[in-house]
Amino acid sequence: MCPGELAHGNAERREIDRQHEYQFELLDRLHAAIAADQSAGTIGQILDEFVSFSEVHFETEHLAMRLFNYPGHDDHVRDHENLVEALRGILSDYQAGEKNLALDEALRMKGYLIGHIQGRDHALLAYLDELQEDPA
Ligand SMILES: [Fe+2]
Ligand SMILES: [Fe+2]
Repeated sequence: MCPGELAHGNAERREIDRQHEYQFELLDRLHAAIAADQSAGTIGQILDEFVSFSEVHFETEHLAMRLFNYPGHDDHVRDHENLVEALRGILSDYQAGEKNLALDEALRMKGYLIGHIQGRDHALLAYLDELQEDPA
């Protein structure tokens, strides 16, 4: 692997970390909006952004896994598919007027996401780090 490819792997790792921070920022914003009893429009907008951003984030991880031949690709992608399905369900419940149900589910997503990041994502990032240290 050439130095340019290594630098690219490092950039992918930093981007994934940055996106995780933003996912948590959006969840905190959602929690604060609910706690402050903000309008349904405001809460819906944050929820919509969280769902859309998470889909983009998962694509970023898929790209990194394919670029660097990550061996855990299939299981990781399956987890993302389940998460996206759950996120879309929350959004459609919210849009259908099931607001309390959708908001409870959205708050529970923080626990799911932490579990995913500490498990599957941590393993992926450790793999990318190993590529930096041992390019052979
Ligand atoms: Fe992931
Ligand atoms: Fe992630």
